[in-house]
Amino acid sequence: MAKDQKTDRPDNTVSNPLSKPFSRRNFLTGTSAAGLAAAASPFAASQAANAAPTTPDGTPEQIHLTWGKDPARSVVVSWASAAQATNPRVHLGHDKHFGRTISAVQKTYTDGLNGQTVFTYHAQLEDLSPDSLHHYSVTADNDSNAAAPFAATFRTAPCGRAPFRFTSFGDLATPVTAWVLSYGQSAFAVQAVEQFQPLFHLLNGDLCYANLNPTVQPTVWADFGNNNQASAANRPWMPCPGNHEIEFYNGEQGFTSYLTRYALPHNGTRFPGRWYSFQVGTVLFISLQADDVIYQDGGPFVGGPAPLVPAASTGNATIEPGTSFYIHGWSGGEQTRWLELTLREASKDDDIDWIVVQMHQDALSSSKTGNGSDLGIRQAWLPLFDKYGVDIVVCGHDHDYERSFPVRGFNHDAGQDIATGAPVDTFQPNPAVDATNADGSLDTGKGTIHLILGGGGTSAPLDVYGVDPGDGAPQAKLFTKPNRPIPSPTTPGAFIRNPADAVEDAIWSATRDTGTGYGLAVFDVDPGREGGKTSITINYYHAPGADKVPTPNYELFETTVLSKHAKRHRR
Ligand SMILES: [Fe+2]
Ligand SMILES: [Fe+2]
Repeated sequence: MAKDQKTDRPDNTVSNPLSKPFSRRNFLTGTSAAGLAAAASPFAASQAANAAPTTPDGTPEQIHLTWGKDPARSVVVSWASAAQATNPRVHLGHDKHFGRTISAVQKTYTDGLNGQTVFTYHAQLEDLSPDSLHHYSVTADNDSNAAAPFAATFRTAPCGRAPFRFTSFGDLATPVTAWVLSYGQSAFAVQAVEQFQPLFHLLNGDLCYANLNPTVQPTVWADFGNNNQASAANRPWMPCPGNHEIEFYNGEQGFTSYLTRYALPHNGTRFPGRWYSFQVGTVLFISLQADDVIYQDGGPFVGGPAPLVPAASTGNATIEPGTSFYIHGWSGGEQTRWLELTLREASKDDDIDWIVVQMHQDALSSSKTGNGSDLGIRQAWLPLFDKYGVDIVVCGHDHDYERSFPVRGFNHDAGQDIATGAPVDTFQPNPAVDATNADGSLDTGKGTIHLILGGGGTSAPLDVYGVDPGDGAPQAKLFTKPNRPIPSPTTPGAFIRNPADAVEDAIWSATRDTGTGYGLAVFDVDPGREGGKTSITINYYHAPGADKVPTPNYELFETTVLSKHAKRHRR
């Protein structure tokens, strides 16, 4: 595998997987993808060598839960099936006798590159009892397991001032190592979530890297869905779209596959599903789509020299070398206006003590082998996080672990252009020196903590960090402008995207895990008493050795306690 396929850096291309050997699994969905073989023969050869698949039917697979608008009372059960399901439905109850039947809504799309049609189903479960265990099963009239359909349980969120646990990582991929960036750790990562038994999990973008496997995108999604079902069928997994959810010919921003597979809380705008919020206990969770504001070009990219040729059945034109799907500014400012409105309301809401933001890309990352930080997020959103007191930002994108100090405000003109050495205003985040309490806990009322949690399960850990060669202090690289494709200086007819263009001293960086890029964060919320102290304890567990061999063993790396005064209700 070429080095540039193994990383999440912007020089990734989507054309290289054609040179990979094909497994039987990807053949099963590749019957209409012959047109994609124009640039390489292994695909066609693999097709001919494999037996026909069994007859597809409506058997549920890729089963996963998400919260509805009110996590105490509403949950959505989503799944897919290989063929159209007849009478898809969920049976629901407080025990295995169920009692309620909820019909599912079908959503489909046809992949714009290989022409495969994907069938997904979404059952909205409403009027649930808060803080209660629910039993459910998923089936259809043409479910091959109809005699004993898939069944599981989930717990609804508690109401009001109640303790709960959530977990988080991004950049999961799949355990099917035939796919670019997939790796066995992604199965252990799902197991790890289950071991910690959170109420729900935040999945911070770059779900499965289907866009790096352009001939078989729906199959990669299916492998992802069937891997995370081991946890996501038992507790909601709340995602945000990352750069690898952007797919050629799959919708205006490339999110059609993502949006078809996930039913997420409405944001009340003309862009449903791309961003949203929900509240559990005294914590407001805000999930954002950061490609809207970042400068870096990290979407799908045909590096060439061969073009990417969609299957003839799609009717889609050949994608020429040097083409990237760059969606900066895609919401026309609507996402940022929604964010400000949502934050303003939260800051005035006495029932909300904490605000946690989820997004994929990073405002504060000092990874050297990864992407680094992006000025776009700092300019568009960090002033809002400061103004309205966001406590925690969880991200992914760089496949490592880094925690910032609480930061508030910026230092200006503190950066340097890598090419010229000229000063650059990187909006260097300013550590809030007074944010450490006497007991060692951190007061996020004085600054926002950024956590890079990109160690889900990809094959490319990026846990090497920048160091200032002059003084040995942490150094971060940044994108301060778009890195659109340019002709390759070495390969005729090919194109590249440059890495970050500036550096700054990472004075905001508190901890970097140099031991391994893999891990997950466990957050325990203690709501305290009204007007008293409230805390969130963050335990980050990492998986030593996983950079070399996948491992089920996660060990505590560090504990960070955030504490502050809970709001007092006005009466
Ligand atoms: Fe990633
Ligand atoms: Fe990413």
